Amino acid sequence: MPSKPGDSDVVLPESPVVLGIESSCDEMAAAVLRGGREILSSVVHGQAVVHAPYGGVVPELASRDHVRVVSEVARIALRDAGFRASQLDGIAVTAGPGLVGSLLVGLSFAKALAYAQGLPFVGVHHLVGHLVAAEVAADLSPPYVGLVVSGGHTALYRVTGRGHPTLLGETRDDAAGEAFDKVAKMLGLPFPGGPAISKLALDGDPQAVSLPRPMSKRAGLDFSYSGLKTAVSVEISRRGGLEALGLAERADLAASFEVAVAESLVARVVRAMRQEDSDRIAVVGGVAANAKLREVMNAAGDREGFRAIFPPMDLCTDNAVMIAAAGSRLLERGVRDDLSLEAFSRVPIGETPWRETPPKKGEPATS
Ligand code: KG4
Ligand code: ZN
Repeated sequence: MPSKPGDSDVVLPESPVVLGIESSCDEMAAAVLRGGREILSSVVHGQAVVHAPYGGVVPELASRDHVRVVSEVARIALRDAGFRASQLDGIAVTAGPGLVGSLLVGLSFAKALAYAQGLPFVGVHHLVGHLVAAEVAADLSPPYVGLVVSGGHTALYRVTGRGHPTLLGETRDDAAGEAFDKVAKMLGLPFPGGPAISKLALDGDPQAVSLPRPMSKRAGLDFSYSGLKTAVSVEISRRGGLEALGLAERADLAASFEVAVAESLVARVVRAMRQEDSDRIAVVGGVAANAKLREVMNAAGDREGFRAIFPPMDLCTDNAVMIAAAGSRLLERGVRDDLSLEAFSRVPIGETPWRETPPKKGEPATS
C-alpha cells in the first residue's frame, strides 16, 4: 500500500470512476462520476435547520454536523452508484476556499479513504468545481466565460481549457448570495435568503421601489453589493421599520431588490461578453438558481447574441458532482496530491498552494 496516494503508480482506466467529496460550507456532499461526466450518484446533506435560528452559517455548528454525517453521506453515494470503495479509481475532495473547520472534515475523510484503498486522490478548488458543473450539465467545453455567483463569491472568469481560469472581475465587498441572505434577514425571512426572497418577490412589483444598480457607472468588470443592501435597509427604516411593513410592501421590496441584483449582474456579463468576444456564459453557484436572474440573463443573451448556460438547480448549489468532475479532469492528466494536503480558507482561483509538484511535462496546470 502506498504511504502517499500521490506516490501510487495506479494508471487510471479509460473512464475512471471517481468519488467526489465536498464540505466547504454548510453542505456535506458525496458523488460518484464515471468518465468525468456520467453521474452515477449524488448525495447532498444540507444544514438549513441547523443554521436557520441564527440567520447565517455558524462555522462551529457546520463542522460538527459534517463530522456526524460524513461517513453516511459517502456510504450512500457509493451504494446508490452500486460501487464499493475498493472499486473506485480515484478520490477528489474540495481543498478550498471555504470554512477551514468544514473543509477539514471532508478532507480528512477523503485522505483516510484514499490511504486505506491505495487510491490516487486530488484536491479541487471549489470555484473551479462550480465552473465545471456547467460543463457536466450542458456538455459544454472551453472556451467560455464563467460567472460564479454564490454565497461567498461573485466573480467572472475566462475559461480557456488551457491553464487556470483567468479572473476578469469580482465583488469588492459582499457576494450577491450574501446580499440575498442579509436582505432576507432584514425582511424577516428565513435562511437561506435567496429562495425565500424569490418566493416573496413573486407577489411583488419589481418597479415599486427604486434601488441603485451597483457599479453601473464604473468601468471594468468588478461587482459591489454592500451599497444595495444598505439601500434596502434605508428603505425599510424610512417606512418605519420591519414591523410597520405590510406583506405587500415586503413583497415589493423583495421583488425590487431581486431585479436590482439580476440587472446589475447581467450588465457586467454583457460587458464581459463584448470584451472577451465570447458567445457562451456559464452561470454557476447558488444564485444561478434564481429565476429572475435566468430571465434577465436569457433576454440579454437574445439581444446580444450569447447563450447563457445554467446548470440544473442541484448542480448550481454546492454539490459533489462538480468536485468529482473537476477532480476527474485533474486525475486523468496525472495530477495527484498526497496526505499532506491541507485545507485553505482563501485561495485565488489561479492558485493551488497545496500542490507544489507541477503537472506532467506538456500538460496544462489546471486547478
Ligand atoms: O453555491 P452555494 O450553495 O454555496 C456557496 O456559497 O458556495 O450558494 C449559496 C447561496 C446563498 O447565499 C443562497 O441564498 C443563494 O445561494 N441562493 C439563491 C437562490 N438559491 C440559493 N439566491 C437567489 N435566488 C435563489 N433561488
Ligand atoms: Zn459554492
